[in-house]
Amino acid sequence: MTCGWHMMLGYDLVGTYIWQANRSFELARRSRECVVNLPTERLLDTVVRIGNCSSAEADKFERFGLTAVPARDVQAPMIGECHASFECRLHETRITADYPLFVWRVLRVHAASSPRDPRTVHYRGEGRFMVAGKEVSRRRLFRPDMLEQ
Ligand SMILES: Cc1cc2nc3c(=O)[nH]c(=O)nc-3n(C[C@H](O)[C@H](O)[C@H](O)COP(=O)(O)O)c2cc1C
Repeated sequence: MTCGWHMMLGYDLVGTYIWQANRSFELARRSRECVVNLPTERLLDTVVRIGNCSSAEADKFERFGLTAVPARDVQAPMIGECHASFECRLHETRITADYPLFVWRVLRVHAASSPRDPRTVHYRGEGRFMVAGKEVSRRRLFRPDMLEQ
C-alpha cells in the first residue's frame, strides 16, 4: 500500500496510519510485521497507482512490475526498486486498538549508498507531492550535544 500518513516516534520507532478498509490493515494486524519502503521520484506514478487499488484485486508486485526481495528478519518482502527498506515488527498494540495507528520497531535498515541525496516524495494531500530538493545547513546554530542524535 501507499502510505502518506507516517511519522517518527522515537529513534527506532515509526508510526503508520493504516485505514481499516485497506487489506493492509488486516495483514499488518495479523502478521505483526511489515516492510516500510522508501520510493523516489522516478517511482511516483507507480506509488500513486499502488495507492489507488487494493491487493484484494490482484498481486501488486506483478501488476506494477516490482521486484519482491526477501527480507532478513520478517516475512514481508521488500520492494527492490525503492531507495531504502525498513524491516519492522509491531511494537505497540494498545494505540492500534483505538486508532488505526501502528507503531513499528525498525529491526533492520537496507539503504542504497547512492544517490547520496535521493529525491524522495512527500505527500501533501489533494494528489500533490513535494520532492526532496536542495539541502541547507544551520549546523552553526546548534548546541554540539544536539548534533549527536
Ligand atoms: C498518495 C497516497 C497516500 C496514501 N496514504 C494512505 C495512508 O496514509 N493510510 C492509508 O491507510 N491509506 C493511504 N492511501 C490509500 C492506500 O494506499 C490504498 O487504499 C491501499 O493501497 C489499498 O491497498 P490494500 O487494500 O492492498 O491495503 C494512500 C493512497 C495514496 C495514493
